[in-house]
Amino acid sequence: MSNESNLKSMSDLVALCKQRGFVFQSSEIYGGLNSCWDMGPYGVELKNNLKARWWKSMTLRQDVVGIDASILMHPTVWKASGHVDGFSDPMVDCKVCKERFRADNIDMTKPCPKCGSKESYTDVRQFNLMFKTQMGAMEDTSSMVYLRPETAQGIFVNFLNVQTTMRKKLPFGIAQIGKAFRNEITPGNFIFRTREFEQMEMQYFVKPGTQKESMEQWKETRWKWHVENGLRAEKIKWAPHGPDSLAHYADAATDIEYEFPMGWGEMEGIHSRTDFDLKQHQEFSGKNMNYVDQVNNEKYLPYVIETSVGADRCLLAILCDAYRLENAGDPDKERSVMKFHPALAPIKTAIMPLSKKSELEEVSNKLFEDVSANYKSEYDVAGSIGKRYRRQDEIGTPYCITVDFDTLNDHAVTIRSRDTMTQERIGIANVQNYLKDKFKF
Ligand code: GAP
Repeated sequence: MSNESNLKSMSDLVALCKQRGFVFQSSEIYGGLNSCWDMGPYGVELKNNLKARWWKSMTLRQDVVGIDASILMHPTVWKASGHVDGFSDPMVDCKVCKERFRADNIDMTKPCPKCGSKESYTDVRQFNLMFKTQMGAMEDTSSMVYLRPETAQGIFVNFLNVQTTMRKKLPFGIAQIGKAFRNEITPGNFIFRTREFEQMEMQYFVKPGTQKESMEQWKETRWKWHVENGLRAEKIKWAPHGPDSLAHYADAATDIEYEFPMGWGEMEGIHSRTDFDLKQHQEFSGKNMNYVDQVNNEKYLPYVIETSVGADRCLLAILCDAYRLENAGDPDKERSVMKFHPALAPIKTAIMPLSKKSELEEVSNKLFEDVSANYKSEYDVAGSIGKRYRRQDEIGTPYCITVDFDTLNDHAVTIRSRDTMTQERIGIANVQNYLKDKFKF
């Protein structure tokens, strides 16, 4: 029987994330701001590692280039994209307890799920999810702009800029990581659904008629990426969209879902967006968005396969998946450990002198200086070795390196593996090579 147990409830993860410095509630000293979260020192390292892996997986390819578009865009962009008229959720309130619901998430023939009142709902209203703000000193409608609800439109409006300056031939993609904002009616489940979040999106422009084949390739690529990040394959699944749930711009779509503690939820969407966006921007801007195929002497609007994953939601899946409670119930052996893929782990090694004796600290400091030049590391001298191991387990540090009194004679250190808890004695001179081998990805 396995002695590992998985995350049972989101509140266990929220507690660990706060206690260990991964994620804090935004503006906590003022009581917090609903659904807004701040990345703490380990959270930001983890998230940066995740984003860097995504960026590399996209832009090391010959056929994908990156951009970083502005969050604020011309308001007509959102008219053209359909967001002004169509990016809304149906909303109802309970007239008794005032709780607000997304009408498509509850059965309105049943009593209010919060207070149990019968027939207490208001009429369903459509609520646009885009945040509005003012640009410049004049606070009138002419200065109104939106915070982008998806990063994708920054890519569509730059399609020709990128294609011509990079001299790209179809098929090719444009990748981007950036913040997006949605005034969600029911945010929640920690960082699963928030009003400010980050997306990692890639739009792949293809010749019309080849979109199905391209979508299959991207589905395979994206599934592999999640598994290579360490997500257990049995915790992810495909959730294809039927005709009823397709977005207005798509002719096919499928999600990759992760089994979060509250149930299966969308982590990434892979959408076949047709030429909808380019066509709309062509119409609204009056600019010709055609791709010119010089070889075949053709001009046309490309079709688009989009891969869109929330950095924060993917991070949540990584956190949930990495969390293990081992030997639960045995006070001597119980430990919680974050089994992050080594490439994602926020801290790669912890250097631990066995005691604060100056001879040990001298060797440890030198080792720390050498190792931390290549790997984000911690120097940890406080508390018993057992306690220090537990702390490093909880932040997911793959290797702890202990400097003890024997080190002064044999010039070797003990390297303890997070996952197996086995220990190896390695000569100090070989530590860099040992780590190079372990962090080879
Ligand atoms: N450009 C297409 C698009 O934005 P989406 O399915 O609305 O598609 C893509 O969003 C991904 O963005 C989702 O799979 C999810 O990971 C993330 N996402 C969407 N809304 C979010 C929210 N309120 N909070 C956190 N992540 C969100």
